[in-house]
Amino acid sequence: MLYDTIRWEEKSLYEAAKKKGVDIENIDIKNLHISLNGEKSYEGKIVLQRSVSYFKSLHATAALEGLGAHVINPLQAASMTGNKLFAHMILEKAGVRTPKAVAAFSEDSAIAALEEFGYPAVIKPVVGSWGRMIGLLREKDAARAVIEDREHMFPLYHVYYFEEFVQRPPRDIRAIVVGDNVVAAIYRYSGDGEWKTNMALGGRAEVCPVTKDLEDICIKATKAVGGQIVGVDLMESNKDGLMVHEVNNTTEFKNTVRVTGVDVPGIMVDYAFALNKG
Ligand SMILES: Nc1ncnc2c1ncn2[C@@H]1O[C@H](COP(=O)(O)OP(=O)(O)O)[C@@H](O)[C@H]1O
Ligand SMILES: [Mg+2]
Repeated sequence: MLYDTIRWEEKSLYEAAKKKGVDIENIDIKNLHISLNGEKSYEGKIVLQRSVSYFKSLHATAALEGLGAHVINPLQAASMTGNKLFAHMILEKAGVRTPKAVAAFSEDSAIAALEEFGYPAVIKPVVGSWGRMIGLLREKDAARAVIEDREHMFPLYHVYYFEEFVQRPPRDIRAIVVGDNVVAAIYRYSGDGEWKTNMALGGRAEVCPVTKDLEDICIKATKAVGGQIVGVDLMESNKDGLMVHEVNNTTEFKNTVRVTGVDVPGIMVDYAFALNKG
């Protein structure tokens, strides 16, 4: 298991493995140095990629996969899910419903795109998490102010990605997928005065029943991105029904376990271990 901070999730995965007698080694990505040449030094190893840092995680996955490891999730899935524009394209192509979106590559074309797309719109950095730097743009002046700010940031933020502001109940769904199964799901209600439902922003969780519809769309989304263990985030659009707005490559599941009582870490360890034997 590769990590950079030990959260509840990494602790519970380690404990589940120990309990099952699985040989597990914790590697802090900060202490990892790997030769990128020659032998298949990681052949036969299953790596649970749990690093929070997107860029470190992606590059470590590329290195370890190249050296023969089976990384969960594979590089293809990590790169597709870690970028909201890439994920949007791959979900669209696979016929998985996702919010309408538009992209632009300069300040002026971003404003022009929004004029066509219409307000309100949601601006999202193509790489990011925990709801950070996601803004609700209600009209042109607000949009211009936000976009002008982004122009002073790292070049990644000059890739403009906007989504329709989906009308939905004040909650979204986080479904945990392991292999071909949705093992548990929760509703995440947004905290007071907040429209985003991230638990990191003070959201509240409740059990969400795993219906056939939910299962189908989650499995389709997971297959589309090539994921093995992922957290699929969905909204219940008043107009269009269930849609996937994000697939999380290193999903958190503490609240899912707390609310549903499902042994998510145990299921994840069993899945990884079965790959090892297979
Ligand atoms: N297009 C949208 N319309 C309405 N709400 C949205 C939309 N996109 C995201 N949200 C809300 O914002 C939250 C964060 O968005 P998300 O795309 O999951 O980014 P992050 O990677 O930061 O979690 C979602 O969980 C949802 O509550
Ligand atoms: Mg999210």
